[in-house]
Amino acid sequence: MPPNKLRRPPGPRGLPLLGLTLALRKDALGTLRRVAREYGDIIRIPVGFQDRIFLNHPDYIEQVLVIQQAKFHKSELTKRLTEGLLGQGLLISEGDFWRRQRRLVQPSFHRSRINEYAATMKESALSHIRDWRHGEERDIAGEMMALTLGVAVRTLFGTTLPAEGRQVGNSLSFLMRYQLGRLRSPIRIPESWPTPRNRRALRERNFLDSLVYRIIQERQSQGNSNHHNDLLSMLMSAMDEDGSQMTPQQLRDETMTLFLAGHETTAQALAWTWFLLAENPGAEARLYEELQTVLNGRPPDPADFAKLPYLYALIHEVLRMYPPAYITARTSIEPSQIGGYEFPTGATILMSQWIMHRDPRYYDDADTFRPERWLDGLADRLPAGAYFPFGDGPRRCIGQGFAMLEAAIVIGTLAQRFQFRLVPGPPVVAEPLVTLRPRHGIRMTVLARN
Ligand code: HEM
Repeated sequence: MPPNKLRRPPGPRGLPLLGLTLALRKDALGTLRRVAREYGDIIRIPVGFQDRIFLNHPDYIEQVLVIQQAKFHKSELTKRLTEGLLGQGLLISEGDFWRRQRRLVQPSFHRSRINEYAATMKESALSHIRDWRHGEERDIAGEMMALTLGVAVRTLFGTTLPAEGRQVGNSLSFLMRYQLGRLRSPIRIPESWPTPRNRRALRERNFLDSLVYRIIQERQSQGNSNHHNDLLSMLMSAMDEDGSQMTPQQLRDETMTLFLAGHETTAQALAWTWFLLAENPGAEARLYEELQTVLNGRPPDPADFAKLPYLYALIHEVLRMYPPAYITARTSIEPSQIGGYEFPTGATILMSQWIMHRDPRYYDDADTFRPERWLDGLADRLPAGAYFPFGDGPRRCIGQGFAMLEAAIVIGTLAQRFQFRLVPGPPVVAEPLVTLRPRHGIRMTVLARN
């Protein structure tokens, strides 16, 4: 069937096309959900003046991410969002170049390597909460961002980061906002025009580049060795089968990519965890009991995780309900056939974790937070493609093990010491930016246990 036979929704509940576009701008998550429920598993959605194909069935998602993955590249949207910042890093590179880089970076994320970071994660968690006091209010989303930023800095660069390294997080945040603003703005101001924002973007980029290059150069001049037990030194020593290594430019791109891909996603997962636990005191009590029984106050180690099934179920449930990567996009590089429809080269395909993870066909009470649902083998029963917080196929997240370890350590450490309660105020709303963030942060009162 030719692609133009695809049903094209006029908009939710009869809204005209313009109405749908506006509704997407106003409430993208709600609108996508309504459209998916109303128009089915494969939909053609007009966004601005372009159509996007929206897949809402696990089998179709598997076709794109796994079975026919060679016919798809990362989307132009993803590339435009990160251009100039991530260079040819893993997140957006393609083809043989991506394959070589993935081969070189993969060993640094081997389970045994990642477990070595557990100590850094524990120390960072404990030192972050050292001055937290009973009864004070904090923006927990901001706190989790600062905590995961600290972990990212220390695991990537070790303790060798110069003082100005603390600016890295601010620079990256500004640049991501800047890129997103450019992508969403209807007016395209060339980057070369000296507007205040363009000038600042240039400054921030130069700052990041010079910092990372300087660290690489210092390491090279000292003859990089594994005595720096951090990701950067592993990347610097990584050697391909033909004996080649990464150039400084490639090292810079991969470092920036790991930094950016790693810390904000994990921070959002942690922020949503505290929100959901505060809203569900039964789950909070069950988690506390499990942690106390197994750990009795000490932070968890990787060896403990097999004894902490509820903690893992909790993390699965948080990633189901509030997937930090809430949408995945691809562009077809050759014609493909999915669900009986043919797509031409250049079609933009959207698949949303946010939609699939709350689909009532696969999850009972899909909008209800119930970590227990994961305790009886649900993960094995679900069709592939119904749950994909870390993506799937060859482009699956390289940092999945790292993120799960960090989440388990931070939650296991903090939940034994504190409870968090929402401060009355505007409702906590998920905002789909680069990741799924709480729109105004999450203000919470910190209550010390005992
Ligand atoms: C809860 C935390 C995280 C979530 C939800 C997450 C999610 C994802 C998803 C969905 C993808 C696939 C994107 C696509 O197919 O287009 C991805 C890729 C990637 N992630 Fe993560 N991620 C997380 C943490 C991390 C961490 C901690 C790191 C590194 C330290 C990392 C590094 C990467 C990289 C480099 C890629 C690209 C891999 C490739 O294409 O070869 N992520 N992530």
